[in-house]
Amino acid sequence: MNHTYNVNFTILVIDDSEINLELFKQFLTKAGYKDLHFYTDGRQALDQLSAISPDLIILDLHMPRMDGLQFLERLGESAASDDHIPVMVVTADATSETKTRALAKGANDYLVKPLDSHEVTLRVANLLETRRLQLETQDQKKSLERMVLDRTNSMEIARSEVLTRLAYVAEYRDDDTGNHTQRVGNIAAAIAKKAGLSESMIEIVRQAAPLHDLGKVCVPDRILLKAGKLTVEEFEENKKHTTVGAEILEGGEYRLLQVARDICLSHHEHYDGTGYPQGLSGADIALEARICSIADVFDTMTHDRPYRKALPVEEAIDEIRNQSGKHFDPELVDIFLELVENGEISTYSKAVRQELLI
Ligand SMILES: [Fe+2]
Ligand SMILES: [Fe+2]
Repeated sequence: MNHTYNVNFTILVIDDSEINLELFKQFLTKAGYKDLHFYTDGRQALDQLSAISPDLIILDLHMPRMDGLQFLERLGESAASDDHIPVMVVTADATSETKTRALAKGANDYLVKPLDSHEVTLRVANLLETRRLQLETQDQKKSLERMVLDRTNSMEIARSEVLTRLAYVAEYRDDDTGNHTQRVGNIAAAIAKKAGLSESMIEIVRQAAPLHDLGKVCVPDRILLKAGKLTVEEFEENKKHTTVGAEILEGGEYRLLQVARDICLSHHEHYDGTGYPQGLSGADIALEARICSIADVFDTMTHDRPYRKALPVEEAIDEIRNQSGKHFDPELVDIFLELVENGEISTYSKAVRQELLI
């Protein structure tokens, strides 16, 4: 077997005898190894282990302070679970008990002094070949993990794009820019963040809130695009978009779809119980739906709709404030107003105005 390609590996030798270290230096240098590190104290070697990053450790057993067996124990504790540095134990102790103990603690090879240079070189080469194969396997594992991650990322992008387009479908007839849905997502996410929801829930809210009116696909144009006030019958017909949206998303396996379903169903519920379709009140209304409700109403008020012109942003904010505890969750209104005060919502409003000017 030709092992010459392994001579660039790093070898750490630990032996309390300077004479033995010198001997190893001669053997290993002669065999072509260049990156060699020698220590007489196991503790110092351990301290430097990550800096040295050895591919092979040659270890004496009987040493003062920390002996070879203790070294093996500490090495096992400190090494990463998928990285095992081969260890060759070299000792004058030929008893089978010591040999067994060393091997049990993770030694890969056991050499009894006095040393034969040829045997040392061959065993070192064998262990380094094992190391090479181990590193190769680790590389393959890493590149596989990268591939899986890339694939997951592109699936994530595709999934998110499908959801964006689904939300676009929902509002296509009365907002063909699709901007309303995305703004509702962003405002809802800002509220969710300030309300202390987890990072992952904030992102779920950002992606689920735009689907709030998915059920509008069932509302006929004569109602959806009606310029005037809806009749009682038309309003009843329009209300169905909540339950239809929820039915479309019902039974979704992913948390995102479950949240979107709750938002579809309950984004027209009122905190005081006067909303629809179920007349739920307070905390019985899903939190995400309570959040979305503020974002949706605010954004709808600040935009032209078939049945009325956009309100000035300040008036829309006043309306949200007036509806605290009635239409909206008072705590979430406080959060919304805080965001407005900090300029985090006015950013969207400015964007709204710019769009209106265009
Ligand atoms: Fe709606
Ligand atoms: Fe909406």
